[in-house]
Amino acid sequence: MKAITLTINGNRYEREVPEHKTLLHYLREDLGFTGTKEGCGAGECGACTIIMNGKPVNSCLVLVAEADGAVIETIEGEAAEGDLTIVQKAFDEHHAVQCGFCTGGMIMSVKDLFRRTPRPDRAEVIEGIEGNFCRCTGYEQIIEAVLDAADKGAAEEIGQRDAAMSKKQGGRDV
Ligand code: FES
Ligand code: FES
Repeated sequence: MKAITLTINGNRYEREVPEHKTLLHYLREDLGFTGTKEGCGAGECGACTIIMNGKPVNSCLVLVAEADGAVIETIEGEAAEGDLTIVQKAFDEHHAVQCGFCTGGMIMSVKDLFRRTPRPDRAEVIEGIEGNFCRCTGYEQIIEAVLDAADKGAAEEIGQRDAAMSKKQGGRDV
């Protein structure tokens, strides 16, 4: 076991963690963040995508013991205040969610895309979600949802939420 500290969606977790458990399994099984899904377990499908230290990562490829000190964002943090985000509403409105298995990871990749490229064009949207497989939608509805979210100010909303989060001092212990 190893003592580590994680900050997840603005809350701080100090825990003893097993040396060989993946971050994906630790998030799901030990902390209850089941919105992060396991598809392939091998870094191929993107269902397990989270944002770690500002970058999207496949959490199935990271050991939790190696994540000491990490700042992590999961899908559970997106509608934390109760209201869906602009991106989530656009996914709903454009029927970009069918079984939903890919959706959590997809939305985390889209969040990263908006941070890097506030007004992505179609090609940039496709590139932004290329690591996330969807077996249901054929991708078109997802692409339309992201472009619509861009028009509706998704990047600005993410920027405002980031600013609010950075004002939170150190996070709440959980
Ligand atoms: S479960 Fe991690 S990339 Fe597929
Ligand atoms: S909605 Fe089913 S895999 Fe994407």
